[in-house]
Amino acid sequence: MDIVSQLEAVMPTELVGSVVRTAGMTVSVADFPAPVGALAEIRRQTGPPLAAEVIGFRDELTVLYPFRELVGVRRGNRVRLTRTSRWLRVGNELLGRVIDAQGKAVDGKAEPALSDRTSFRRQPPHPCDRPRIRAALTTGIRAIDGLLTCGKGQRMGVFSASGVGKSVLLGMMARHTDADVIVICLVGERGREVNEFIERELGPAGLARSVVVVATSNEPALVRVHAASTATAIAEYFRDQGKDVLLLMDSLTRFALAQREIGLAAGEPPTTRGYPPSVFALMPQLVERTGRSPQGSITAFYAVLVEADDPNEPISDAVRGLLDGHVWLSRKLASRGHYPAIDVLESLSRLMPDVTSDEHRQAAVTIRQLLAAYRDHEDLISIGAYRRGANPTVDVAVDMQEPIHGYLCQRVEERSTAEESSGSLLRLKREAAQRLGAAQSASAAGQSPPGAAQAAPRAQPGAPTPAASPR
Ligand SMILES: Nc1ncnc2c1ncn2[C@@H]1O[C@H](COP(=O)(O)OP(=O)(O)OP(=O)(O)O)[C@@H](O)[C@H]1O
Ligand SMILES: [Mg+2]
Repeated sequence: MDIVSQLEAVMPTELVGSVVRTAGMTVSVADFPAPVGALAEIRRQTGPPLAAEVIGFRDELTVLYPFRELVGVRRGNRVRLTRTSRWLRVGNELLGRVIDAQGKAVDGKAEPALSDRTSFRRQPPHPCDRPRIRAALTTGIRAIDGLLTCGKGQRMGVFSASGVGKSVLLGMMARHTDADVIVICLVGERGREVNEFIERELGPAGLARSVVVVATSNEPALVRVHAASTATAIAEYFRDQGKDVLLLMDSLTRFALAQREIGLAAGEPPTTRGYPPSVFALMPQLVERTGRSPQGSITAFYAVLVEADDPNEPISDAVRGLLDGHVWLSRKLASRGHYPAIDVLESLSRLMPDVTSDEHRQAAVTIRQLLAAYRDHEDLISIGAYRRGANPTVDVAVDMQEPIHGYLCQRVEERSTAEESSGSLLRLKREAAQRLGAAQSASAAGQSPPGAAQAAPRAQPGAPTPAASPR
């Protein structure tokens, strides 16, 4: 951070106001014209000063949102401006550490000695300075690297209802990716989940090349919102060093919920489902800071909770428009034990064509076609009503169901390299092409291909159409 921008942020005069009233988590202060985003401290009669941030103005009063609960605040308490802009201490020593939204260590170890500092709210790289995304980032997840390949600097959403596997999937990526640095932001998680994530999902090897920023659900909304900015600022710091960074945010929905609390407290009008306009203004600001810069890249995965499986709820809707693709996790697949529960047909990576070879892309298209053919006929197939030979693509989709399933499922601790993911995909495509050729010639000859009987769908006793069974 250069000296000129630091000087520009300095406010020369000292400002002191006094508390007039509190409402919910907010404090209204008289005679305190501090700018929005400035930091202040409320001097209480007992206990240390309470840090707070200016979030807006109402009538003649300045509205502050504190970083801790308001216990001990009284009318008339003095409020002093402490900073007009916020900085964050950063450095390579952050790797392997768990910190809070203010950058303080929360893993019980000594504070890291950090040599640099960066602005907490940086502007995104200028659109004209952003190089095109050309190289793929390996996440280590076969279904993503094979069928939803992501570029270095791409922003993706991981969408699902509660408990379908978003956090586990992000943890797998943190462990298996080939990114240089991983920044993980746990916003509004349950306290129990934090250690679980760090010990079980991430493990010591994953943690060693990660920085974890935590703000649990019991922390004030402002702290939860700041955690997302802190994590993004740390990712920016490593990107400036030329690194390929993977930023994992769990979850963007909880960030939006925290900003909803702040916006409503500052007096904004609620819009769709109570979300004030600032939520929809803040999300693009946050998301745009990631991506590729001339120095390095931040590839970001944002977990998005889809309430009541409704993909059109306002946050998912807004986020889908901001990102370069989405991974949709399906409860139906999870309930069958198909993990990671990625519904490939509902998911999309907009940059896949830019970062994959023609051969790889073709193979992905073939597998998608087979998945779609199977899905469209699933009901008929499951009751044994599908007549083999009626459609060669469906015949192959049925025969290939098991190997495709084997490709898409992956154990949590299993890592798939980029070569393995694309190699297995190409093998699947070759097998499908051979089977399709055989099925088409059999269909032209008006008979089932040799050996089809073993792979044919199970005929169910008493199935509605006896002729449906190939046997
Ligand atoms: N890859 C996986 N392999 C086995 N089990 C899994 C996998 N992914 C998820 N699960 C199971 O699903 C449960 C919920 O997963 P997870 O916590 O990741 O869901 P979530 O989508 O993050 O939920 P929430 O929205 O509540 O945060 C896990 O505790 C685990 O039992
Ligand atoms: Mg979760």
